[in-house]
Order: sequence, then structure tokens, then C-alpha cells
Amino acid sequence: MVTDQHADQHADQHAAQHADQHSDGHSTKPKHRAERIGRALPDAKLAEIIAAQEAIFVRRQPQSKRLAEQARRYLTGGVTSSWQITAPQPVWLSHGRGSKVYDVDANEYVDLHGGYGAMLAGHAHPAIQHAITAQATRGTHFAQPTPDAVVVAEELARRFGLPRWRFANSGTEATMDAVHLMRSITGRDLIIKIEGCYHGHHDSVQVSVMPDPDDAGPEHKPNSAPSSTGIPRAITDLTLIATFNDLDSVARLLDEHKDQIAGMILEPIMMNAGIIKPQPGYLAGLKSLLHEHGALLTFDEVKTGLTVGPGGATVQQQVQPDLITLAKSLGGGVSAAAIGGTEAVMEHVASGHYEMVGTFNGNPLAMAATRAMLTEVATPAAYENIEKLRRRAAEGIEQAIEETGLTAHVVTAGAKGCVVFSAEPVTDYRRFLGVDDRYSHAHWLYQHNGGVFLPPWGKTEQWLISVQHDQADIDRLIENFGTFARAVQGG
Ligand SMILES: Cc1ncc(COP(=O)(O)O)c(C=O)c1O
Repeated sequence: MVTDQHADQHADQHAAQHADQHSDGHSTKPKHRAERIGRALPDAKLAEIIAAQEAIFVRRQPQSKRLAEQARRYLTGGVTSSWQITAPQPVWLSHGRGSKVYDVDANEYVDLHGGYGAMLAGHAHPAIQHAITAQATRGTHFAQPTPDAVVVAEELARRFGLPRWRFANSGTEATMDAVHLMRSITGRDLIIKIEGCYHGHHDSVQVSVMPDPDDAGPEHKPNSAPSSTGIPRAITDLTLIATFNDLDSVARLLDEHKDQIAGMILEPIMMNAGIIKPQPGYLAGLKSLLHEHGALLTFDEVKTGLTVGPGGATVQQQVQPDLITLAKSLGGGVSAAAIGGTEAVMEHVASGHYEMVGTFNGNPLAMAATRAMLTEVATPAAYENIEKLRRRAAEGIEQAIEETGLTAHVVTAGAKGCVVFSAEPVTDYRRFLGVDDRYSHAHWLYQHNGGVFLPPWGKTEQWLISVQHDQADIDRLIENFGTFARAVQGG
């Protein structure tokens, strides 16, 4: 395909394969490239590069610009969710097929945005299409259970190792129920959350999601900073903040608030700050600490769920929590969420001690799509292909980093991956704050103008490889990365 960016771009040689990558996604190549970096890009030069790419971006998308202006009259902010507002302008899409999406200006993109991590199935997957169509002809909503719900619950139990399941419609609902349930079971009000983790937009977790350094408080005692207006202080105060990969920060909170903490919610692999992996022993240590204090552990696997592997981070990291929340890729592109728990935990739901309710919970359309996702789409063969593509992406980009001397490294976890523009590994939110976001934005623009749609929002998000991507898709990602890296390194 020809794009503005490709037109004047000479052929890259890329994707030479290296064999020194572990399957868990940690590159064995040295991460500390600082000694080889001769050039730090001056601010003015980086600003110039971003401005030039934004100009190309806008020039390629006149219909998106027109729609954005028209939409603003009746559609608040001109978008359907505030995180669809991207710089320099929102991208309006026309359709998706397989590994590609098409904007309203007929530009084609390899879709690695994946609807913010929800499209592990890729677009218009035949099995999902068939499941939805078949169910639509039989009725789309009853608010009574349908047989697919049993198959889905059984398959989730098999994959994730937790025996009992319920359903909801979004990640927000699932984590809200998990937090309620931890409080309901323990009779305690306080919860612990990790600084820099996002768990949806309900009050209890809209705390210290992406706090400004001015609001974040001291590193050894982070503040509970509201992440939005409209969250009452009385609620924010019930959410205590700990640091990822720091067991002491949790031990301290448990000691300071003896017998008052209901439980802790965290992403077992942090995925709203690039990708931050748990250090060995961290998750197991958390479980022991919390249980010693009569508190519960929830893994929010809304993002990691089916994407890092068939049984999510829970199986990969070999630590079983009391509760798991799933959403995003679960429903193959249809709104579906799930909450899994131990027998002891979910007995509180079965007995009516905690009422887990929702008109659309277990909606037949969602259950049909989820059943197809689990039984026909996210298969062992699909995960094998994703693993090959993960390696190809990581190795190809690492090679371009090596060749250009750019200060960056790649972190991957199954179908998810990102480039972190820092020499040092990022282990928690404070280290993440130090990463220069302008490089991520410039990279995003180069990929976009080169026909690869990565998730916007710079350094926070990751790519998602779907079951329908192939080598050519990944090679386009690598090629664009090389072009970007040479541009910012002045090559
Ligand atoms: C880890 C995590 N939990 C929960 C949510 C909320 O999910 P939803 O947007 O479906 O409400 C998100 C959304 O990005 C998420 O990344």
C-alpha cells in the first residue's frame, strides 16, 4: 500500500530473526543502551517531527475532520467516549475486516489498536459473525439464563482455575462487583489499589489512576488522589494506594489499618502504564500477606484475560487470586464481562448475601459471542500463531533500536506489546512517569501515517495482535518503526 509516509521512504531491511528471546517476552539483549546513545533529540527537533507528522495525519483524513466538526453539534465532545479524542483529531472508522480497519477516508490500517484491547478475535471473524447472527434470529434479550452461559462458565473455570462465575457487561461493572464483594464478605470498607492502575470508571477505583506528580504524594506513602471530578472525598479516602512490585507498601497499609482492609485489586501485569510485569514472588507474596490479614485478592484481568495466554496472567504467573475480572476480548467484540471466584467467595453470591445483578448480565447475544470466542476463536493454534508474531515484532523492533541507537526497549506479554522509550526497565508508576511521552506520540503518528493503527494515548497503551494477523501485518509495524527511529535519530 502507498501512504504519504511510504512514498518517499526507501526500502528497509528488517525482521532479521534473533534467537535470543525468551518466550515470556523478556528480551535477553542488554536494556541499557545509554552508553551507545550519542544523541538526545533537542526539544525543537522533536516538536518539528511531531508537527510534520500531524500535518500528514490531518491531510490524509479530510472526512474524519468534517465528521468531527459535524458531530460536535449533538454528540458531546464529538466522540462517544472521551478517550476517543486523539491528537491531532479523532479518527472516524468505516469498517473492519480480519486484521485491518478502514477509516472514512478509505485509508487502510493494520489494526493493532484492537478497540483498546478488545479485539483478540480480529474483525468480522466468521465464527463470531455466525454466533451473533444465529442468536439474533432467535432473540437478543430475555433477562433469563440461556444454555450458552453454562458452557462459557465451565470453559472459564477450566482456563482460569476458579470454579464459579457470573457475568456483567463491561470491565467497570466487573471490577465494581469484585470490590463490592470483597467488602460484603469481610464487612470492611477499605480497599488497596495500585498507583497507576486503571480498573474502570466507578468511584472506588477512580483513585490515583494517572496522578500528576504534584498530586501523587511522597513515593513511600502515595496519596489517594481522585482521578476525576465528581468522586466524593469520602469515597476516595476508602481506597488506599500501594506501589506495584513493592510488597512493603502493602504490608505497611495492612499494619496501619488492622482489620479494616477488605482486599486489594490490581492488574497482575500492569497494562495501563505500558506493560509492567510483576517481579518474581510479588503476586504470591501479596496473596499471603492479604490472607494473613483476613483480606481478599482480586486480579483485574480485563486487559490481560485471554490476551496474554488462554488462562490469562493468573495461569501464566501461577498465582490464583480469590476473584478474577474479565471483559474486553472476552466477548469477541460484543460487550461481555465476567467475574470468577473461589467456592467460598462466590457462595456469598449464591446465598444472596451479596446481590450481583444486572438486566443485561449474561445477555444471550454476549453469551453466544463469548462461547464462540472461547471454543472456536481463542484456540491453541491461534495462540501458537500469536506467539510467532509476538517474537517477530519484538525482534524486528529491537533490531531497529539496536541499529539506530534509539533509547527504547520492547516489552511483550502474549498478544500485547509496547515500546518503552527509556533505557531503564519500568517497574512501577513513578518510574513510568519519567518516560518521555513525546516519543510515544511521534511513534504513534509515524505508525498511523504508515498504515498501522496503534492505540492512542502515547506511553500508556499496548498493541494487540489478533488471531487474524499475519507476518505481513507485523512487518508493516516493524518497517514503520524503523522509519520513525531513523527520523528521530537524524538518520
Ligand atoms: C484493567 C482494566 N480494568 C477495567 C477496565 C474497564 O473496562 P470497561 O472500559 O469495559 O469498563 C479497563 C478499561 O480499559 C481496564 O484496562
